Amino acid sequence: MLRFKNPALIALLIQIASTLMVLAFISSQSFLAFSLFEWGVLQGILASIFSFAARMPYWWAAIHLLFLPLSIATLALDISPLWFLIIFMGLWLIYGKTYKTQVPLYLSSKHVPSALASSLPTNRDFSFIDLGSGCGGLLKNLAGIHKNGRFYGIESAPAPFLISKLRNMWSVSDYKIVWGDFWQHDFSKYDVVYAYLSPVPMESLWQKACREMRPGSLLISNTFVIPGITPYKSIPLNDFSNSTLYLWKIGNGD
Ligand SMILES: C[S@@+](CC[C@H](N)C(=O)[O-])C[C@H]1O[C@@H](n2cnc3c(N)ncnc32)[C@H](O)[C@@H]1O
Repeated sequence: MLRFKNPALIALLIQIASTLMVLAFISSQSFLAFSLFEWGVLQGILASIFSFAARMPYWWAAIHLLFLPLSIATLALDISPLWFLIIFMGLWLIYGKTYKTQVPLYLSSKHVPSALASSLPTNRDFSFIDLGSGCGGLLKNLAGIHKNGRFYGIESAPAPFLISKLRNMWSVSDYKIVWGDFWQHDFSKYDVVYAYLSPVPMESLWQKACREMRPGSLLISNTFVIPGITPYKSIPLNDFSNSTLYLWKIGNGD
């Protein structure tokens, strides 16, 4: 089975290959006289077949099927290209390089700080980092509760980073947020590493945590498990998506 390191790149290749095949077919024959939209539908069908053949997740087939026909239909609406640039820029500001990281923006629920209360140290200082800290809400709440903690965040998407920086400037709670890629960041100085990411990076995250984090320190994941590694503790959040916090102790015989 193919492993998709970067599905966006594979999707682009599928779109290019299916478009080239349809163009080659059009220029090699004269008996079929379809409209541009109908050729677009044919390309969509071909691209979704390629998507199945490449074993991309099933919802990619629907995207491939609709992409070119909808693009052609949209051209008929005569919308200014500026709108597409504005929407594209807006999505990039909010989501950054999601096409590469495969981690979109969604925020931890308000239940997380209270659920974590009994798992964070109370009788000594500790350092905590939120990997991909989004708009900084979790850090602000935790820093307000745990005065013995030093709280840090690292975020790579422009708009969430800017929002969290502004929040930070006006907040009485003490926490720091930096712009950057957590894969390039050293985890060794943190007692607790918190991640609310997606299923995709969990295995690599575990390997990085085992390489860099000190024995006895804590890796916490909201919702997403590490394949094959049993957490030492699970805390149900009772929030709108019924999610769970999973906790692993580094060097705990894993
Ligand atoms: C699901 S959100 C979680 C936001 C926040 N931690 C919370 O719990 O509310 C994941 C965030 O991680 C960010 N992100 C993804 N990959 C990243 C990376 N390699 N470095 C820094 N931030 C990243 C995304 O931009 C997104 O804002």
